[in-house]
Amino acid sequence: MNVSVILPTYNERENLPTAVARLHQALAACGPYEIVVVDDDSPDRTWELAQALGEADPRIRCYRRTDRRGLSSAIVDGLSLATGRLLVVMDADLQHDTAVVPQLLQALDDAPVAVATRYAPGGGTGRWSKRRRLASTLATAACNLVLGVRTTDPMSGFFALRRPDFLAIVPRLNPRGYKILMELLHVLRPARIGEVPYHFAPRSAGESKLSGQVVWDFALSLAELATRRLVSARFLKYGLVGGSGVVVQFASFFLLWDRLASEHAATACAIATAAVSNYVINNLWTFRDRAHSGVGNVMRGLGLFLLVSGTGAMINHALTFYYHEQFAAPLWLAMAGGIAISTAWNYFLNRDLSWSGHARPE
Ligand code: GDD
Ligand code: MN
Repeated sequence: MNVSVILPTYNERENLPTAVARLHQALAACGPYEIVVVDDDSPDRTWELAQALGEADPRIRCYRRTDRRGLSSAIVDGLSLATGRLLVVMDADLQHDTAVVPQLLQALDDAPVAVATRYAPGGGTGRWSKRRRLASTLATAACNLVLGVRTTDPMSGFFALRRPDFLAIVPRLNPRGYKILMELLHVLRPARIGEVPYHFAPRSAGESKLSGQVVWDFALSLAELATRRLVSARFLKYGLVGGSGVVVQFASFFLLWDRLASEHAATACAIATAAVSNYVINNLWTFRDRAHSGVGNVMRGLGLFLLVSGTGAMINHALTFYYHEQFAAPLWLAMAGGIAISTAWNYFLNRDLSWSGHARPE
C-alpha cells in the first residue's frame, strides 16, 4: 500500500460521500491507496455509511469506535490501523482541499512531515470571524514560542508523514484535544517540515465541533508540553476543579448560614455541595473521555469519589497532626504536607478507581 488517508468523522454523514469521491479523484495517480474512516459512533450513523462504502469498495475501511471519543485519539487510532507507506490526515467535512493531497505526498520526498497550511502565501482561511482568526493567530504564536516548532500552521488538521516515523513515536504520543500535529511535531522533531498552502473552505453541511472546551484543552496541552509532562493536563484540571470546590463551599456556606440555624449544619451542607459539584465537573471535564453516564454508573462513581476524597481528608488531617506533633513542624507547614499527600492520594485513586475507564454497562 502506498498511501493511507485518515478521515476522522463525527456526524459527517452529509459530507463523507463527497469527501471520499474527491479523494478518489485526487489519489488517482498516487499508486495503491486506502481511506481509513475513524468514526466515534456518530449519532447520525456516519459509521454505517462508511461501512456501506467499504462493502462496495475495499479501499475504504471504517473503524467505529464505541469506547472512546476525541479527534486526536481518533487520528492516532486511524494512523495505527493504516498500512500505507505514506500517511495523510485530513478532515472529512470538505473544509480541506483534496487537490492538495498529491502535493503533500510529494513534499514527503524531502521532509519527514508535510503540513497543509493556511498561513503561507497562497493559503487562506476565507471568511472567519474576528474571534476565530484571533484565537488561531494566538494559538499559532503560543505554539511556536513554547515548542520552537517551525511551521506557519501548527494547528493544521491536514498533514502527512511517513509510516515508519509514526510507528517509532506512537508510544510517546499523548493524544488529546485537537492538536495532534503539535504533539507529533513536538515528539518527532523533524529536521524539516514541508509546507503546502491551501484555502480553508467554509463548512457547507454539519457543524464544527471546535468549542470553548477545545480551546481550554489546547491551553492545558501546551502547558503540559512546555513543562515536559511533569504535570499532566489532567492533573491541572483536577487541581482547578478542586479550586472551584473551595469557591462553591464558601458560597453555599454563606447562602445557608442564616437559613440553617447552626453553623455546623451549614458547614456540613456546604461541604456536601462542594463535593458533589467537584464530582460533576470532574466527570464532565477532567475525566470527560471516560465519563460515567446513566444513573447507576453516576451513583457508583459519586460513591467512589466521596469515599476516596473522604479518606483523603482523613489522611490529610492525620498527617497534619502527625507532622505537627511528632516533628514539631509549624502548623502551616504540616498542613501543606498533609494537603500535598492527600491531593496525590485523591488524584491517583480517583483517576484509577473512580474513573478507571471501565464503566459498567447499564
Ligand atoms: N472521530 C472523531 N472524533 N472525529 C471528530 C471528532 C471526534 O471527537 N471531532 C471532530 N471530528 C472530525 C470532524 O467530523 C471533521 O471531519 C474533523 O474532525 C474536523 O472537525 P471540525 O469540528 O470540523 O473542526 P474545525 O473545522 O472546527 O477545525 C479545523 O481547524 C482547526 C484549526 O483551526 C480542524 O482541521 C482542526 O483539526 C484544526 O485544528
Ligand atoms: Mn471543520
